[in-house]
Amino acid sequence: MSQVIAVLNQKGGVGKTTSAVNVAAYLAKEGKSVLIVDFDPQGNATSGLGIDKHSLESTIYDVLFDNANTEAVIKETSIAGLYILPANASLANAEVHLVDQLQRELKLKKALQNLNYDFILIDCPPALGLLTVNALAASDLLLIPVQAEYYALEGLSQLLSVVQQVKQGLNTNLELLGVVVTMYDSRTSLSDQVYKELTRYFEDKVFKTIIPRNVRLAEAPSHGKSIVEHDKWSKGARAYKQLTKEVLKRV
Ligand SMILES: Nc1ncnc2c1ncn2[C@@H]1O[C@H](COP(=O)(O)OP(=O)(O)O)[C@@H](O)[C@H]1O
Ligand SMILES: [Mg+2]
Repeated sequence: MSQVIAVLNQKGGVGKTTSAVNVAAYLAKEGKSVLIVDFDPQGNATSGLGIDKHSLESTIYDVLFDNANTEAVIKETSIAGLYILPANASLANAEVHLVDQLQRELKLKKALQNLNYDFILIDCPPALGLLTVNALAASDLLLIPVQAEYYALEGLSQLLSVVQQVKQGLNTNLELLGVVVTMYDSRTSLSDQVYKELTRYFEDKVFKTIIPRNVRLAEAPSHGKSIVEHDKWSKGARAYKQLTKEVLKRV
């Protein structure tokens, strides 16, 4: 049985995809078999791992709606042990199409249920709609990246209330793996404040590892690479390696 981890925050640009891709890459480097499910129509995890999202024959959309075989849609990446179930703009229609499907909240869970990876990481879209509910229903654990910025905590209570609703109905097993602070800038006291406030609320669920703002992390996707391939000695790489160790300790 795979451990399924949803990487979720309904805000865009907080480091979900960067965290999903790089934690997955380091898990694979640790010898685990890992699948990233790109569940965002922007397809950033797909292109960030070097796959041309415009020339895909099939994507997760076909798995959800055309009964495509999940294994047949999954692609290898340049890292041994790391695989991706790709997405592109076609997934943008999914929210609308899901509405009148039977068991519309459980489509992703069904698509993933017979897979055999050590870890499956779901890179969620920046929304709390049906796609995200599907991700939460399919997951064991939730990883929340929070950007170290002024409005960081805004929206978190809404996110947690959706999680609570899913826990009460669709998926009683869902648990918080942790909250990770991303794009931390040590020159500002604001970053420090965000970390402290999160700790006050989430206590030991906040990861000790803080992801710094690091230009190498921002560059890597344009080369279609995770940070371990782009620049494994960068500060960003070392942080994601450390975070992955913490993740492994907690699961
Ligand atoms: N720690 C970081 N330092 C610098 N840039 C980052 C960092 N994390 C993410 N980025 C960049 O910020 C943007 C948003 O990050 P991304 O992971 O795509 O967020 P999300 O998936 O939540 O929308 C991307 O351009 C990404 O490359
Ligand atoms: Mg993203």
